[in-house]
Amino acid sequence: MEHFYDTIGEDWFDFSDIYSYVVDNFTDDSHFVEVGSWKGRSASFMAVEIINSKKNIKFDCIDTWEGSIEHNQDNKPWVTEFQKDKDFLYSTFLKNTQSASDVINPIRKRSHDAAISYKNRSLDFIFLDGSHEYKDVLLDLQLFYPKLKRGGIIAGHDYVNCEGVWTAVHEFFNCGVLWDGNWIKNDSGNWGPNKPLFDLPIHIEAGKPLAARTSFLFKKP
Ligand SMILES: C[S@@+](CC[C@H](N)C(=O)[O-])C[C@H]1O[C@@H](n2cnc3c(N)ncnc32)[C@H](O)[C@@H]1O
Repeated sequence: MEHFYDTIGEDWFDFSDIYSYVVDNFTDDSHFVEVGSWKGRSASFMAVEIINSKKNIKFDCIDTWEGSIEHNQDNKPWVTEFQKDKDFLYSTFLKNTQSASDVINPIRKRSHDAAISYKNRSLDFIFLDGSHEYKDVLLDLQLFYPKLKRGGIIAGHDYVNCEGVWTAVHEFFNCGVLWDGNWIKNDSGNWGPNKPLFDLPIHIEAGKPLAARTSFLFKKP
């Protein structure tokens, strides 16, 4: 199936390499979760990758479809659309992802409520792109990380540009890999399910935001 994600919604999706990597490297019967799906841009990319892999990968998309705090504060045209109609974002997501809907399981809940419905050590890949508020990200990490299988991968968006994200990620993990503005870590402390995920890691001081969009290993000295 041809990718169609680039026709959908706002252009915030810069983690396609991570999505392709996990589809390539995890096996049949894996279980992936995306927290924060908005209008379906990243979700439809993942869904088409799954379809094209011919692997039987379960893919849950968790979102309130009410927008994040920062979306509701923004003075953007799309804010009024979803503030007028509380189902606007959800119906837009369903419409936009319809042609790949066989492999998408939308879960309309707050991430914290959805997290507790998973068994511990049941998920292979979790991507956090929901709330970027410090307290919410920390709670997402506390609730979702135990759900990761050994060798599973957890990652998230907007590490570089969101203080709430990088503060929570540093508080929760001592180490991980930062890639192109996103953070990524696996359960065992090795990078990737079978092999290093990224080359040439650079050690940096924990707790400091990074200005560059590049590959780093972050680790407490
Ligand atoms: C930045 S958008 C996701 C963008 C999407 N991944 C993409 O690339 O197109 C963040 C989404 O997180 C959702 N969200 C914010 N806080 C949430 C929470 N606590 N639980 C579930 N979803 C939440 C918002 O409704 C919004 O759709």
